[in-house]
Amino acid sequence: MILETKNLEFSYPDGTKAIDDISITIPEGKKVSFVGKNGSGKSTLFLLLNGTLKPKSGKVLFGGKEVNYSASGLRELRKKVGIVFQNSDDQLFAPTVYQDIAFGPLNLGYSKEEIERVVNQMLDHFGLQSLKDKPPHHLSGGQKKRVAIAGVLAMDPDIIILDEPLSNLDPVGADEILDILNELNGLGKTIIISTHDVDLAYQWSDYVYLLSSSKLINEGTPGFVFSNDEEVRNSALKSPFILDVYRELEKRWLAPGNAQPKDIPELVQLLRSIDLMRVEAGPEIEVGGCVNLGVLFGEFAKDGLYEAVNSRVLFKNDDGTAVVELNRRVLKPGAIYVYDMDSFDKDEFDKIIEEYDIDHIGAMGKKSKDIAENEGINVVCNSGVIDKSILNAITGSRCLIITSKGMVSHTAKRIREYIRNSGIRLVFGPVGKGATEIDSAGKEEGKEE
Ligand SMILES: Nc1ncnc2c1ncn2[C@@H]1O[C@H](COP(=O)(O)OP(=O)(O)OP(=O)(O)O)[C@@H](O)[C@H]1O
Ligand SMILES: [Mg+2]
Repeated sequence: MILETKNLEFSYPDGTKAIDDISITIPEGKKVSFVGKNGSGKSTLFLLLNGTLKPKSGKVLFGGKEVNYSASGLRELRKKVGIVFQNSDDQLFAPTVYQDIAFGPLNLGYSKEEIERVVNQMLDHFGLQSLKDKPPHHLSGGQKKRVAIAGVLAMDPDIIILDEPLSNLDPVGADEILDILNELNGLGKTIIISTHDVDLAYQWSDYVYLLSSSKLINEGTPGFVFSNDEEVRNSALKSPFILDVYRELEKRWLAPGNAQPKDIPELVQLLRSIDLMRVEAGPEIEVGGCVNLGVLFGEFAKDGLYEAVNSRVLFKNDDGTAVVELNRRVLKPGAIYVYDMDSFDKDEFDKIIEEYDIDHIGAMGKKSKDIAENEGINVVCNSGVIDKSILNAITGSRCLIITSKGMVSHTAKRIREYIRNSGIRLVFGPVGKGATEIDSAGKEEGKEE
């Protein structure tokens, strides 16, 4: 633990108790946020952490050792623990920006060349070169903030404490500072910030402390601290925006439960691939229940020509409809083939049954029925054959109509018409030796696969 406090207490001379029994342990190399409403004690705690204020009771420990409040002890501490004040005017005092940033390195006894190198590096890093000769009090709020941060970083402390580092910064400027803080953290520095920005604390931190009325009321990973809505609300904070959005999606079944997305990519990753449909819903249908939608095809099928669909009811609307989530199972495409029995050949016929994976055989006409009977062909339908074949095919079956020359043309025409008028996609085709003739029947009007 690089920085700790034990039962820290602090009151200002006017009697205001600003820190009440606060014990924290900050591990090295982490990004830590303190959140809490105005006046909750964040700034006071930070001033205690780098020895600017001395506790009334309790301890501050750096690297496991109690802080020594002698002048030399404090100098040592401040070399290691740099602090950027909430109000930049409390920090900046030199006649120029350059001199302000140079102040720390100068005090640390750096050589002239080394100071020049470090200050120029900071001026470049923070986009301050053009302002280097200006008096700090003539800068804008955001510019002052950058100078203050640059001045602290110039001393290369191990721990960088920043009190509201992004206040006054424009969004791009804030992102630039965050990039710098992340880069420093990547180099092993411990970064401690205070903020009212719950989105920042939630997304950025490894660990969060929640303060309220001078007390520590919760601590932990951002997901843990921000999942306690009541505590967050009582601390005059809000829950992070991304969590609010996620919870609304979760309530609507659009994302799985119990996740804690940190940012937009994580949220997007969680989204269910939605397959919703609005259906008529009778009184017997309940939210959470299952509705069998039968077979969907045409524009409603997504992954195949035909899909057997069950669905789960997500919502019931007042208008008698429900929103359901589909669970699709692709059915093999339905088909109707026609075989001319005048050219019957046993071997060819058996091969066709096998190759075309035929489920149903329908026989039309006396001759076909007789041959079928003699040859032991298993005919499942011998009346209304065309209509039954169409009905079977549109629910995914593969049908073969056996017939003889005289009826071939009529059969082909009827099926092609059905396909054209209904817009339903079916595999239709003549098979076997007699195929050419069947093929031409009704073709000019038909639509086929
Ligand atoms: N110099 C002071 N003298 C007396 N009371 C003070 C002084 N500075 C701060 N306080 C009081 O100490 C308490 C904690 O203040 P502190 O500045 O630490 O809060 P904070 O959490 O940093 O608030 P903010 O979010 O507004 O920055 C407040 O009640 C404040 O009024
Ligand atoms: Mg403050």
